[in-house]
Amino acid sequence: MQPTQIHDVVANEFGLVNEYIVSQLSSDIPLIEQIGYYIISNGGKRLRPLLVLLAAKASSELDTKKQHKAIQVATIIEFIHTSTLLHDDVVDESDMRRGKKTANEEWGNAPSVLVGDFLYSRAFQIMVDVGSMQCMSVLAKTTNIIAEGEVQQLINCGDPDTSEASYLKVIQYKTAKLFEGAALCGAVIADASAEHQEALRHYGMYVGTAFQLIDDVMDYTSTAEEMGKSVGDDLAEGKPTLPLIFTMKHGKADAVDRVRQAIQTGGLEQLDTIINDVQNCGAIEYTQQKAQEQADLAIEAISCLPESDYKAALIALAHASVKRRN
Ligand code: IPE
Ligand code: IPE
Ligand code: MG
Ligand code: MG
Ligand code: MG
Repeated sequence: MQPTQIHDVVANEFGLVNEYIVSQLSSDIPLIEQIGYYIISNGGKRLRPLLVLLAAKASSELDTKKQHKAIQVATIIEFIHTSTLLHDDVVDESDMRRGKKTANEEWGNAPSVLVGDFLYSRAFQIMVDVGSMQCMSVLAKTTNIIAEGEVQQLINCGDPDTSEASYLKVIQYKTAKLFEGAALCGAVIADASAEHQEALRHYGMYVGTAFQLIDDVMDYTSTAEEMGKSVGDDLAEGKPTLPLIFTMKHGKADAVDRVRQAIQTGGLEQLDTIINDVQNCGAIEYTQQKAQEQADLAIEAISCLPESDYKAALIALAHASVKRRN
């Protein structure tokens, strides 16, 4: 299956998710709706809602009631994701997201954080409506772990001795957990067996890890046009991601010094030279290979699911999360 065909298998439900997302942005406070519509209508790949739908439909046929719950859960996950992006762009001092100015650049930090809080709590309101204690428990834990990952990352920033293991834990917490929650809740809503729930949970965790590894590669290989985000955001805050950790281990002495220094002080003065350092020592290939390993594990994890178009789409999604360019 081609990456462009992944959405096709759930095109109807995906359209309904987009409608439901917009319907749930309503508020009496105009600024909330303004910022909410701004970030939501600037697009985004909607990968996590896609994952909810695919996981649910790969588990069983959905009657009307279950289908509506799947659409609600997909919206919950996208709201949680969007709220983390609003907060993330403040923390990372980013000025570009989804090809447009970030909300913090357009309106300032305070409205961005507060509208992020609105989306978070709206997600929990929808969750109460869904009425699944299991989903509520999964997502309460998920959001808590995302926050832990972001705080651990803050601690690691500026530390060139951050280990690969510590980096991996950060990306599992801040990013992979939400993919895990999306896949698991999709399975729960579809009343999947405990075995299939576990399979999809693992799938989400591995794909999410691959996804963030590639996000971290793109900071050193992509362009703002392609990513819709500014180049060098990670280096600017001295974030020790895997491409830099590898360069400090295997790069030439002057590259090692430069990268250590850049992590300690942050800033973009050396961005072009460091991009060369990272690209010339095999760090990109190494990180991509790690992402591919995670994608392979994801595919293996769902081998117990019955064959279907939805399972084929999940396999294609795992591959696409490594090959992606944005
Ligand atoms: C961005 O996620 C945040 C990360 C976990 C890297 P996406 O790349 O899925 O962002 P959108 O929703 O498509 O803009
Ligand atoms: C994303 O990490 C993690 C969360 C949003 C929780 P990044 O900071 O790398 O995401 P981008 O690159 O800004 O999208
Ligand atoms: Mg960021
Ligand atoms: Mg960040
Ligand atoms: Mg990033």
